[in-house]
Amino acid sequence: MSDRKLRWGLLSTARINRALIPPLRMSPRNELVAVASRTQEKADAYAREWQIPKAYGSYEALLADPDIDVVYVPLPNSMHEHWTIEAAKAGKHVLCEKPLAISVAEVDAIRAVAEQAGVVVTEAFMYRHHPQTLKVKELVDAGAIGQVRLVRGSFSFNLTREGDVRLDPLLGGGSLWDVGCYPVSYARFVLGKEPVEVFGRKVVGRSGVDETFTGNLRFPDNVHAQIDCSFRATFRTHVEIVGSEGAISIPHPFKPGLEEQIFITRGDDSERIAIQGQELYLGEVEDMADAVLLGRPPRISLADSRANVAALVALLESAERRQPVPIA
Ligand SMILES: NC(=O)c1ccc[n+]([C@@H]2O[C@H](COP(=O)([O-])OP(=O)(O)OC[C@H]3O[C@@H](n4cnc5c(N)ncnc54)[C@H](OP(=O)(O)O)[C@@H]3O)[C@@H](O)[C@H]2O)c1
Repeated sequence: MSDRKLRWGLLSTARINRALIPPLRMSPRNELVAVASRTQEKADAYAREWQIPKAYGSYEALLADPDIDVVYVPLPNSMHEHWTIEAAKAGKHVLCEKPLAISVAEVDAIRAVAEQAGVVVTEAFMYRHHPQTLKVKELVDAGAIGQVRLVRGSFSFNLTREGDVRLDPLLGGGSLWDVGCYPVSYARFVLGKEPVEVFGRKVVGRSGVDETFTGNLRFPDNVHAQIDCSFRATFRTHVEIVGSEGAISIPHPFKPGLEEQIFITRGDDSERIAIQGQELYLGEVEDMADAVLLGRPPRISLADSRANVAALVALLESAERRQPVPIA
């Protein structure tokens, strides 16, 4: 079993493929064998450019290839559920881009099919596998800042590409689904709890999606998270975790690099903690190999993804109704 390689297929020629292809080639337990696109011409050109052995002119054709073990789903958000389910039904394990789906019912449908097919399905929140994230969690759990009271998280950038899928409401666009999902995920992860109530506000752009979103999430024991995200603000990512005895500041929480640093402040003292990182997208590729080849649970379970989607849906509902929304 130990020298078996997982053979991967890419479901589309999405830009984000560029992040996954190098780790697939770096990892001794994984290899990239195929790409599919909506046209054969595009698939062929992409396969030539990236030196991928097989090119398919439809997503269905790639799923019918018995040589493929794992499918990567980097499609627009509204298509994640359909193609993850189709891949699982074809007996493929699936690494699906964030957000796994855009409703809780969709996550439940994915889970039912994955269980029936006996395949691994996991969400590609790459930051969750990085040593920095694991170190932050370890510090919080060890009480390095006392009792956690508040998590603040931000992810913004200026979206300048015309016609980007992120601006299309029918494709699951919007800043909360695209980048607001990161601080929500981060807060839930470090707190190890789920929000019980949320309040959101949005600024809607010309295309009808939220282009800026701010949200408050109330967790049990009156712990809060505040998040903000935007397509219309300078590139900026940050997480701060505030406790009774100190605060942790994480300058690069969602796209950490090879050499990182985080800071713990306690009163006037500031402690710098250096972190040896790893190639950002390698973790999710190795995690899939651990899950399929070694039978380990993937780091991001479907229950975890479901809770993230539930929080995001509640935030959107709250912003629409201009009222706090409880989460069951
Ligand atoms: N984890 C991360 O760091 C990260 C970063 C960026 C994006 N993402 C996620 O990855 C996904 C894709 O993002 P992206 O920026 O890579 O998108 P993108 O470049 O626009 O790619 C989406 C691909 O989907 C296919 N597609 C099928 N139907 C489509 C339709 N109706 N309209 C447009 N494209 C369609 C197209 O491929 P074909 O023409 O080849 O069929 C297209 O290339 C999103 O879910 C996003 O949240 C994750």
